[in-house]
Amino acid sequence: MDRAIGVFDSGIGGLSVLRALRVELPHQHFVYIADSGHAPYGERDTAHVLARSRAIVQHLAGQNVKALVMACNTATAAAIPLLRLAHPGLALIGVEPGLKPAVALSKTGRIAVMATRSTLSSDRFAALLASQAGQAAFVLQPCDGLAGAIERGAETGNTAETMALCARFISEMGRFGTKQGEIDTLVLGCTHYPFASPALRALLGPDVQLLDNGEAVARQTRRLVLAGVEAPASTAAGQVSLYTTGPPHTLQAAARRWLGLAGPVEVLSI
Ligand code: DGL
Repeated sequence: MDRAIGVFDSGIGGLSVLRALRVELPHQHFVYIADSGHAPYGERDTAHVLARSRAIVQHLAGQNVKALVMACNTATAAAIPLLRLAHPGLALIGVEPGLKPAVALSKTGRIAVMATRSTLSSDRFAALLASQAGQAAFVLQPCDGLAGAIERGAETGNTAETMALCARFISEMGRFGTKQGEIDTLVLGCTHYPFASPALRALLGPDVQLLDNGEAVARQTRRLVLAGVEAPASTAAGQVSLYTTGPPHTLQAAARRWLGLAGPVEVLSI
């Protein structure tokens, strides 16, 4: 079989990136790992996130993947430079909050960023923010508990907890809208949050732009994989293999609900 592309996240959030990857690269095979047994990453210390990212990248590199997408902003912020050093031959693609595209889109020059506490306090995010200094005013919102609420909602279909948290975070960020002084662009800086888009949209109305980086990451992966090294051997639809380090039912429910994937989920101990 053609070599797969590895994708991982602390849980089901990376499925938002996998969804974009499958659109961009429909003939490629993917191996997805949800590190649910060690989640959430966003409220843990950097050492934990680094150790988990290292173990998973090591595992996927051992499966001879042709590229590896770290579909997690928190893991990218904590670990990508060190993992690139440790795996120089591996095409490692990370995901970061889309501040630059938000600056290009915003008309009011006020942009809010929802992300995990760990991403927002990382040196990597500080450098990203500094690169946009003077381009816009940024409101940074750590969203404790939101990734967990989205995980629970994926399983039960009940989004009340996600809705309540989103309402609280939105009221903390300030006034949204398209008038001067209002926030007109909201960056979803955690791969779980695109799955809260219906709640955010219901709370914010149609005019505020919601921005995530899944499609940009998928395009970058496509460039690397196709420029790279090898084209797909066949024109048949790619396969997706799903693994988790936690209980399988959350990933199973989320993959079915959001990607229409009905395949089995295998439990890994890494
Ligand atoms: N999905 C992850 C991200 O993009 C974090 C979720 C978590 O806190 O584990 O940052």
